[in-house]
Amino acid sequence: MIAGMMRIGDKTDAEIRELYDSAREAGVSYFDHADLYGFNFPDGGYHLCERRFAEAVKLSSSEREGIVLQSKTGIVEDPWGYDQSYEHIVASVDESLKSLNMDYLDVLLLHRPDVLVEPEEVARAFDELEAAGKVRAFGVSNHTPRQIDLLKTAVKQPLLVNQVQFSITHSSLVAQGMTSNMTTSDDAFTRDGGGLVDYARVNKITLQAWSPIQIGHEPGIFLGSLDYPELNAEIEGAVANRNSR
Ligand SMILES: NC(=O)c1ccc[n+]([C@@H]2O[C@H](COP(=O)([O-])OP(=O)(O)OC[C@H]3O[C@@H](n4cnc5c(N)ncnc54)[C@H](OP(=O)(O)O)[C@@H]3O)[C@@H](O)[C@H]2O)c1
Repeated sequence: MIAGMMRIGDKTDAEIRELYDSAREAGVSYFDHADLYGFNFPDGGYHLCERRFAEAVKLSSSEREGIVLQSKTGIVEDPWGYDQSYEHIVASVDESLKSLNMDYLDVLLLHRPDVLVEPEEVARAFDELEAAGKVRAFGVSNHTPRQIDLLKTAVKQPLLVNQVQFSITHSSLVAQGMTSNMTTSDDAFTRDGGGLVDYARVNKITLQAWSPIQIGHEPGIFLGSLDYPELNAEIEGAVANRNSR
């Protein structure tokens, strides 16, 4: 379980602290950030959520050691696009560390594929960040197997993670594998990135699910939605069952 920090940009210190403490009490020790998170809040900007997390939570060094802190880089705005150049990756991590008031990231992900990426540039950035002790492990987000293979032509570190949109109502990554040859299902269209689940399992890449309770691309969650009565009944039954134990 991972606690996503994308929506904390307008929360008070007390609210962020409560979110953090609740996550820790529930056994969650993995926190997900990105350089981008906060850019869309009024008076927001890049690194806002990382900065607010540090200001509100104020981790001691032993508390810091006890959690896994992940951030991402690679999305640029104005104009919107993707940048996996050496300069961008290194500068973004430095700014993330400053905002988080930390010496290192446990995990750095490339947020979205830059289809014209130069893998050697990524490799140079990763080598430098690793050697300086600024990043301990690396991965990607929203990447296809072939895009990961391309990075691996130069990147020496294992790519341990691929964070992708996945929820029970947005599940074509799994459904495609069961419907690949059928003409009767939308899921037969290749929306699984070309065997992403099997590729991740073969290559020991952990798939992380983003927006796990969101219905699909548009905002809106399936919890309590009248469009998903059976799913909600199932969830409520499971919760009642757990509470009665
Ligand atoms: N790699 C990527 O490209 C990418 C993209 C998007 C997100 N992410 C990561 O994934 C994390 C989760 O994304 P998300 O917030 O969009 O997805 P989510 O956890 O599925 O939440 C979506 C919405 O559900 C609401 N919600 C959450 N828990 C709820 C509950 N128990 N009952 C009722 N409503 C609830 C939230 O509303 P409130 O705002 O009111 O809490 C939020 O608006 C982000 O924080 C970020 O770390 C990554």
